[in-house]
Amino acid sequence: MLKEEGMKMKYGVSYYPEHKDQAEIGHDIALMKELGVNLARMGEFAWCKFEPREGEYDFAWLDPVIEQLGENGIQTIVCTPTACPPAWLVEKHPEILYVDNRGVARPFGGRRHYCYNNPVYREYSRRIAEAVAAHYGDNPYVYAFQIDNELAQEGTGRCRCPVCREKFQRWLEAKYGTITELNRRMGTIFWGQVYDHFGQIHPPVNTIEPNTAQAIPAYFENPSLRLDFERFCSESNIEYQNIQRDAIKAYTDKPTTTNATGLATNSIDYYRAFQNLDVYAFDYYPNLREGMISSFPYAHARGVCNKDFWLLEFVSGGGHGLWGSGRLQPYPGALRQAAVHAFAAGADLVAHFQFRTFPFGAEQLNYAIVDIDGIPRRRFYEMQAAAKDLRQLGLTLKNSYFENEVAVLFDYDSLWALKIKPIAKDFDYAHFCGEFYHQLTRLGVGVDVISFDHDLDKYKVVIVPAPMIMSEAFKRRLKQYVYNGGVLLSTFLAGVKNLDNLGITESLPCGLTDLFGIRVGEVEPVVESTAAAVTLDTGTGCARGMNRYWAETLEPNGAELIGTYTGNFREGIGVISKNSYGKGTAYYLGTGLEPDLLKTLLKRVVEEGGVAGLPFAVPEGVEVLVRKYNHQNLYCIFNFCKEPAAVELERAYHDVLRGAAVDGLAELPPKGYLFLLEEGWD
Ligand code: GAL
Ligand code: ZN
Repeated sequence: MLKEEGMKMKYGVSYYPEHKDQAEIGHDIALMKELGVNLARMGEFAWCKFEPREGEYDFAWLDPVIEQLGENGIQTIVCTPTACPPAWLVEKHPEILYVDNRGVARPFGGRRHYCYNNPVYREYSRRIAEAVAAHYGDNPYVYAFQIDNELAQEGTGRCRCPVCREKFQRWLEAKYGTITELNRRMGTIFWGQVYDHFGQIHPPVNTIEPNTAQAIPAYFENPSLRLDFERFCSESNIEYQNIQRDAIKAYTDKPTTTNATGLATNSIDYYRAFQNLDVYAFDYYPNLREGMISSFPYAHARGVCNKDFWLLEFVSGGGHGLWGSGRLQPYPGALRQAAVHAFAAGADLVAHFQFRTFPFGAEQLNYAIVDIDGIPRRRFYEMQAAAKDLRQLGLTLKNSYFENEVAVLFDYDSLWALKIKPIAKDFDYAHFCGEFYHQLTRLGVGVDVISFDHDLDKYKVVIVPAPMIMSEAFKRRLKQYVYNGGVLLSTFLAGVKNLDNLGITESLPCGLTDLFGIRVGEVEPVVESTAAAVTLDTGTGCARGMNRYWAETLEPNGAELIGTYTGNFREGIGVISKNSYGKGTAYYLGTGLEPDLLKTLLKRVVEEGGVAGLPFAVPEGVEVLVRKYNHQNLYCIFNFCKEPAAVELERAYHDVLRGAAVDGLAELPPKGYLFLLEEGWD
């Protein structure tokens, strides 16, 4: 059933009224109204205002702002302020402080200086979340609630305080039952690390979180213990988040979520984290000066909850910056395009970070929509233009959705395992998954990004990049999928380890040699001086390119070799294979490929699966997102180039933004976009 007028997407900004006096707030709200936005996100760092002294709650500073915004058509997302425990709390309970991998407690004076497992902090967090929800739960101007801010960000997802240490020991005990079992499954006999009891176990010091230093600059700790520590910390953060979720939900039905850090933090398994939240939300700061905006994080976001997502923080521009240097300003048109692109890619809510440049604090002078003097300039006007286009696109986007035929699978165990024991200096699991996504996009093929647990049956082609850790159940599901007629492409490292992060004493790909019809022989990383040419049989000819990251040699055992090493001592040895299995086909790619060759291979794979491409050709630098509207295709076309681009249409379309028919050559200005609907619109 088509949705009706009035169901608007939410577009707005983060805003910090706790920094301001009444006159400034009045000035800002007038500007927001002029922007034409309908959302503000507030409160996430303001615990000292919400509860200036223990048990004394104060909402008088925020209530009138919410009211004034609401009267101007702008609803608020109220955040719980737990990213910043106030000075009085830290003074009274210094034991709540976060302890990093060097054993150093993070003192008051920054943010996120708390341990998510500490029972005292959990209780204070529950109480403030409850107070916020009790006060705002049925305020009509409040749209939704955000829990905390970027859990685990800035190296705060792997606490090693005494509470965490003991809890980790108990967690291991619950998982393994006896220390003998832990010793066996973790292979602690290696380097004589056998434990006598759980109390001897320390959380590993070598963290894999971004923004934390290696405490020992090497990889000497037990990889099974390290993977369990990742899982334990991820679960602990989720537990912490859900304490607040339950406190809020006791008072309101309004959507409640938290802001993930996209693919960046890698400290929390977002597939699990968002099971109890209403919508997947994340923060994204793409480069708006050069290149294309990657829609890979958006595809990942759609896959977390199988629906639309929110962007609670989105890039606003350049200037000074928080991360050790300034940030480039957007290319003209890029900010407007970025906002519309995010909605086309599946966002239902976008809030730029943030409205107006701060004079003080760690983020003083940083990027914002409006400069410090409060005078609107081009970023403001671009946002205003985006808001106008979004009002026009609203219903078309609300009533359309993605129906992709290809899925790229993404998994946190494999991601963590590959960080714990990297295979090559330049290899990054998430980036590697993105390479498949991007080359498919270049072919005009829409892609979903989903977890290993997701149903595979609806996809014609499934791609599993570097699935280093696979459960036996997952292997069976992959076989079933291909047996029933699916087309599968897996790469090197398939099934190398079990869920305990132990190597399996079988031929690689472990448990899957029948599915792929090959055995893996030698393996090694690829360094610049050893990169080899790979020759691919495209089905109609030959293509050649260089390899990267990792190299495996394939011993055919029923499969056809469609790619071989060329021109080095491995001349003629297999590296890409194709195998018939039941009604389907399983491809194995034993190395990384440079972009054009990967694209050529993927073309062969999607053709095998009968995947539909675009009906028109698009130049490089132009992305097309295909959505379904009333069983028709809606083509959302974005020209990321600094030059105009043209698309030669094969038929007439309805141009949704202009409200007119378009035929022949469709022109896109630099950083322009076009929404074309097939039919059924008059
Ligand atoms: C995010 C954070 C924001 C702000 C922003 C600056 O990670 O959630 O509060 O600090 O970075 O880029
Ligand atoms: Zn702790």
